Amino acid sequence: DMELLTSIDQAKQCVRAWKAQGCSIALVPTMGFLHDGHASLIQAARKICDKVVVSVFVNPTQFAPGEDFDAYPRDMQADSALCERLGVDAIFHPQADEMYVNQRAYCVVEQLTSSMEGAARPIHFRGVCTVVCKLFHIIAPDVAFFGEKDAQQLAIIKRMVRDLNFDIRIVGMPIVRESDGLAKSSRNTYLSPEGRRAACVLYRAICKGKSLIAAGMPADDLYAAMKAVCAEEPLCSLEYICLVDADTMQEIPIVAGNVVCCMAARIQNVRLIDNFWWSEH
Ligand code: PAJ
Repeated sequence: DMELLTSIDQAKQCVRAWKAQGCSIALVPTMGFLHDGHASLIQAARKICDKVVVSVFVNPTQFAPGEDFDAYPRDMQADSALCERLGVDAIFHPQADEMYVNQRAYCVVEQLTSSMEGAARPIHFRGVCTVVCKLFHIIAPDVAFFGEKDAQQLAIIKRMVRDLNFDIRIVGMPIVRESDGLAKSSRNTYLSPEGRRAACVLYRAICKGKSLIAAGMPADDLYAAMKAVCAEEPLCSLEYICLVDADTMQEIPIVAGNVVCCMAARIQNVRLIDNFWWSEH
């Protein structure tokens, strides 16, 4: 039976008992309102570990004032049902007032956080790294799963684990999309029917970018071509398109080694991100 762990002590005790039995443990950190993207991480975790813990926590420290913390969709019943179906062993669903009691310590990753989402959302990655660091200490998993959908987040967590000597393997999983190409996201629920139709322009730009990168096009020309695709959709207002090194998240002028092309756009004021990964070899 699936456990619902709502306090930090309860979670630690549960994990301690599993470890005493010699079980390997996977963690899938989420903010809930689970969809097929989350499910793909859970299924991958299920395959390689004895015990799978899914954390469901809308983390207040990664939202700036004026962002969508209050509006962020929540549905614990549906999330529990999905986790149960996927064979999850425990959901860790802590209360914000237990996770953050007069917090004065934060986890900061430098440089990788300065571009793109970090530039657009200055406190965001400090909040993400802090909560992931706390989750890593509470659950102490052997493996943790993250989506390539949040490319910069994945690179930052990998760097945090490397630089701060967490003994945890980080696995990145491909983007799961709707049938029209829109990347699955809990935030897609904010879109009106009209906005939802318009939102697939991001994927059209991604596809355009991918085909041009394969043909060896430099970043500036890539940006121009992808912008032109976005310009065809009047409801789309582009925030950035950026070609970065996959490890450093620093912008690069031409494809070299492993790269990611990331974009952010607003559709009727709903902020969406998408990306594609590319390696030279
Ligand atoms: P959340 O947006 O709920 O996403 C949880 C995990 O699911 C992340 O690793 C994200 O990259 C992955 N994911 C989301 N949509 C996906 C998709 N369409 N395909 C594949 N993977 C997808 O990311 C967060 O929560 C938070 O920042 C968190 C890491 C939990 C810290 O609070």
